[in-house]
Amino acid sequence: MKITIVGAGAVGASCAEYIAIKDFVSEVVLLDIKEGYAEGKAMDLMQTASLNNFDTKIIGSTNDYSKTANSDICVITSGIPRKPGMSREELIGINAGIVKTVSSNLLEHSPDTILIVVSNPMDSMTYLVHKTTTLPKNRIIGMGGVLDSARFKYRLAEALDVPTKEVDGMVIGGHSDKGMVPLISKATRNGEKVSGLLSAERLEQVKQDTKVGGATLTGLLGTSAWYAPGAAVSALAEAIICDQKKIFPCSSFLNGEFGLNDICIGVPVILGKNGIEEIVEIELDPSDLDHLKESVEGVRKTNNLLDI
Ligand code: LAC
Repeated sequence: MKITIVGAGAVGASCAEYIAIKDFVSEVVLLDIKEGYAEGKAMDLMQTASLNNFDTKIIGSTNDYSKTANSDICVITSGIPRKPGMSREELIGINAGIVKTVSSNLLEHSPDTILIVVSNPMDSMTYLVHKTTTLPKNRIIGMGGVLDSARFKYRLAEALDVPTKEVDGMVIGGHSDKGMVPLISKATRNGEKVSGLLSAERLEQVKQDTKVGGATLTGLLGTSAWYAPGAAVSALAEAIICDQKKIFPCSSFLNGEFGLNDICIGVPVILGKNGIEEIVEIELDPSDLDHLKESVEGVRKTNNLLDI
């Protein structure tokens, strides 16, 4: 099994590292346009193989897509990341052109691949890939909700002062500060609803901290985060390669689900060897459904800026 990651920046390299460490594919190709950069990152990562005990072979490539041929999964991380104070939506002008070119190059060499889109504004970039390629909708997956859910669980565990592993929760909607919909009413700690464990004010704080999770890190780091995005991609890739049939919130093309059409937005999906095996129409509280619909309007506004 083979995974290509386009973009050897911090997010792309972190994806490669987590995928390699988990050892579920034989080969990872890291590709970048910057001369020698992907080769350097690949070599550095390969020099951790004996220390981290993995067999995955990581290969670097300077824009040579022939090396990516027959990839089972391709991950697109390329484009510019946001700087402090910027929204993900502001990146659309530059990143749309890059994502269009990259997806077309990838499909030329791996026509049956499953694409995971990470570049921002992610929901619109996922929509762009739907509109500009012939890949079926189950093979185009936007990575956002799984990262936002990890940040939600982190904030819930912090508020409850319990281990993160004991907490479960999901964020649906758009991968944007305004568009995220953390499903507070469904979140639990060891099966117990968090709504009975934390005050309404504290839960509201958790919700707000979750929604600005990426922006908080951008403020601290001067650029966007990479460890959690890399781990999130690795979790999605593992579920597909190992046909795990796990549920993750992912940006998916909707065709009537949740009463929504012609949009890519974060909803729960089952991931397996075919990519999105099923969109899971969980029952939503009326207020969460309203927030999801508001989120859709925000993503549509950004989609309208796409030249498609
Ligand atoms: C973030 C970027 C990956 O939320 O969108 O960190």
